[in-house]
Amino acid sequence: TKNYDYVIVGSGLFGAVFAYKMKQAGLKCLVIDKREHLGGNIYCENVEGINVHKYGPHIFHTNSKEIWGFVNQFVEFNHFRYSPLANYKGTLYNLPFNMHTFYQFWGTQTPEEAKQKIEEQKAKLNIKKPQNLEEQAISLVGNDVYERLIKGYTEKQWGRNAKDLPSFIIKRLPVRYTYDNNYFNDKYQGIPIGGYNKLIDGLLEDIDVLLKTDYFENKSSFDEMGTKVVYTGKIDEFFDYQLGYLNYRSLRFESETLDKTNHQGIAAINYTEREIPYTRIIEHKHFEYGTQDKTVVTKEYPQEWDKDKEPYYPVNDETNSSLYNRYKKLAEAEKNVIFGGRLAEYKYYDMHQVIASALKRAEKELGL
Ligand code: FDA
Repeated sequence: TKNYDYVIVGSGLFGAVFAYKMKQAGLKCLVIDKREHLGGNIYCENVEGINVHKYGPHIFHTNSKEIWGFVNQFVEFNHFRYSPLANYKGTLYNLPFNMHTFYQFWGTQTPEEAKQKIEEQKAKLNIKKPQNLEEQAISLVGNDVYERLIKGYTEKQWGRNAKDLPSFIIKRLPVRYTYDNNYFNDKYQGIPIGGYNKLIDGLLEDIDVLLKTDYFENKSSFDEMGTKVVYTGKIDEFFDYQLGYLNYRSLRFESETLDKTNHQGIAAINYTEREIPYTRIIEHKHFEYGTQDKTVVTKEYPQEWDKDKEPYYPVNDETNSSLYNRYKKLAEAEKNVIFGGRLAEYKYYDMHQVIASALKRAEKELGL
């Protein structure tokens, strides 16, 4: 029997926002998730009173007044600005590349001096048509910035040498000739006060949810429970991998609680040399200006993905994109299933983008 209008697979932002819109329209949803908590990758775990970003650090940023207003209905945001540091062989640099960074490299104090330095380095190498990521990066920012801040970091992220990576991975490199350490350019930015779980709990208030429930273990009975299914899991898994596996980059997080109030003085430090196996250390309390007695730090290690690991980043190269397009064809033939979110669309979505996409999809569904 159809007890629900929608059975929603996945309680991440896509599923939660879609469910919220349907609830507002008076429709009934069931949200299921195979994890033991709601929220997908924005879920935070409370450790010693600190919101630990369990699936990687999440900073909310958007240029859209509408999206900003939407999330602020559920939770207030603080004034956090993401301005990570880079540690290269024990020396600290500001990110993203800006006048502070150039001063730290060369002692240049004016935009003219910094520009001249970068132009000199680019000219020396004289790269006409970049053949790989290394040449592309050097042709954009010169070799000093490349060697110390880009090379090792990128090689760790992709598990390959920069010379073996395609140049298109780095289309542009944001270089700022101002003393501005704010990583994002968006108008609105912050961290939910009290954590991301408040946002998810607000969205899913009064909606039926089932945790530790894998759709595929009872697919046909879930299909029967709802008029339609909203699927936010991996698209290839929906079709039983019949065309092959889509590839991802995965991550491993190593967290520890330290018996001190402040470990590194900032939320994120990137470790940009190749020899250190992790790419960054996150100190979670700094996202919310925490004053707890203890602190939790997390080292982030990139790793190859296999089907038992969490799929963090889609690999949007030609092979995977064309495989995705074939799965998408199959998805289009499923008339009672809506595919949405970063796993079902095999797309690197930021939070504000996935919210926008879920709102749009829900409105289309409601004929608005
Ligand atoms: P999400 O993956 O969150 O949810 C899918 C849910 O479906 C999961 O809970 C999963 O368990 C469930 N599911 C899957 N298969 C299932 C099945 N068979 N049965 C039941 N349940 C199933 N964005 C941003 O704006 N700022 C940032 O700083 C960051 N930082 C960041 C860091 C890292 C490391 C990553 C990987 C991502 C980010 N993001 C980000 C992106 C952000 O995480 C992303 O936009 C949203 O979490 C996507 O929400 P979805 O609902 O699409 O997927």
